[in-house]
Amino acid sequence: MSERPDTSTHPGDWSDDMLWALAAVDTAVLLVDPDGALVHANEAARLLAMRLGDGSTPAQLLARVPDAAWDAAVIDGRWSGDLVVDEPPIVLEARLYCGRGEHAGRRFATFTDVSARSAREGELQQRHDELQRTYRRLAGAQEQLLQSEKMASIGQLAAGVAHEINNPIGYVHSNLGTLQEYTGALMALIEGYANALGADDPASCRDAIRGMRERLDFDFISGDLPQLLSESREGIERVTKIVQDLKDFSRVGRDEAMRPSDLERGLESTLNIVWNDLKYKVRVEKHYGELPLVECHASEINQVLMNLLINAGQSIAERGTISLATGCEDDEAWISIADSGCGIAEESLQKIFDPFYTTKPIGRGTGLGLAICYSIVAKHHGRIEVSSRLGVGTTFRVVLPVRQPAGVADAQA
Ligand SMILES: Nc1ncnc2c1ncn2[C@@H]1O[C@H](COP(=O)(O)OP(=O)(O)O)[C@@H](O)[C@H]1O
Ligand SMILES: [Mg+2]
Repeated sequence: MSERPDTSTHPGDWSDDMLWALAAVDTAVLLVDPDGALVHANEAARLLAMRLGDGSTPAQLLARVPDAAWDAAVIDGRWSGDLVVDEPPIVLEARLYCGRGEHAGRRFATFTDVSARSAREGELQQRHDELQRTYRRLAGAQEQLLQSEKMASIGQLAAGVAHEINNPIGYVHSNLGTLQEYTGALMALIEGYANALGADDPASCRDAIRGMRERLDFDFISGDLPQLLSESREGIERVTKIVQDLKDFSRVGRDEAMRPSDLERGLESTLNIVWNDLKYKVRVEKHYGELPLVECHASEINQVLMNLLINAGQSIAERGTISLATGCEDDEAWISIADSGCGIAEESLQKIFDPFYTTKPIGRGTGLGLAICYSIVAKHHGRIEVSSRLGVGTTFRVVLPVRQPAGVADAQA
């Protein structure tokens, strides 16, 4: 029995063969009695204990297992977990086994040095955290880019929008001037009537009143007044609408859930914003089909439509047509914007979605418009199709699924 491991405690009734086998394995194995005291430690356990410090014994190794772990092992039959040793830095994977039934009272523990695995995991975790941070930074940058292109296009449009607002404000202002005159005339007339009523012989005032009505042009005023008022109301409504459209447009879409939205309304209000840039040279045709509500970030889709409308307008040098069409096939809704502009050369077609690709002079083009359109539409699980002929015109078609794939909209909410 000289081969038998030298143990400080009695190995209980574990068989010699069993102890011999344990001596041969690389895993540290500690046999434990039902009270948790060490019964036997194999050679690997003794070597491992020594690595934990000068004179450290298997019993000390066993003492590192928290009582709660043993309690759990008694209930479940087994327990495993990592034990972190600070000095020297070692991570041990401990597995505890408690026998049941005919093996009740049997307990043993194994220990494996998993420092390398644990270090690798730590490193992976660190890399993962770094990637996550980078991802968040990129997402933030992308959001900023989106917002800045949006603001740049609003900047470009500001003059046009100002004009669109100034125009109705101008005639509402002039209408107010006229209304003031009319009010003066009407008050004078009412005063005339009041005087006549108070006169001794009201009938004798009839001619004077008639003359006054004619002089003040009462018939004209009574015809013009309702028109002035409704025209002014329309003007104010138009300004309110443009301001609302601008507000919708400049909203940052982030953190907002995708909602079923009316794409045609989005197209109309976007057209409203860019209208001043288009109205002198472009005739707009509309061929709207029946569109269901489409699940999307409406303000982002409006940004796509705005980019496409501006590009279409810029492609037309003198005079031309922009055709807007919508439709729905299967579970996809589409909007197409076709212009009779300069067209795009075959070899340029594959570059137009690249960020910063532009054929326009500085200040007019950023080259970001279509790149942003592309990423917004891709985020919506849709696509943008282009067809173009040089000198004839270009058609962009935005195709979006009516409903986002399951989970996407909820996840965003
Ligand atoms: N409707 C269009 N007609 C002709 N060319 C277009 C049209 N839309 C886009 N392009 C081409 O694609 C390029 C990239 O467009 P975009 O990404 O919107 O950037 P930008 O308009 O700032 O140049 C434009 O510079 C232009 O050459
Ligand atoms: Mg553009």
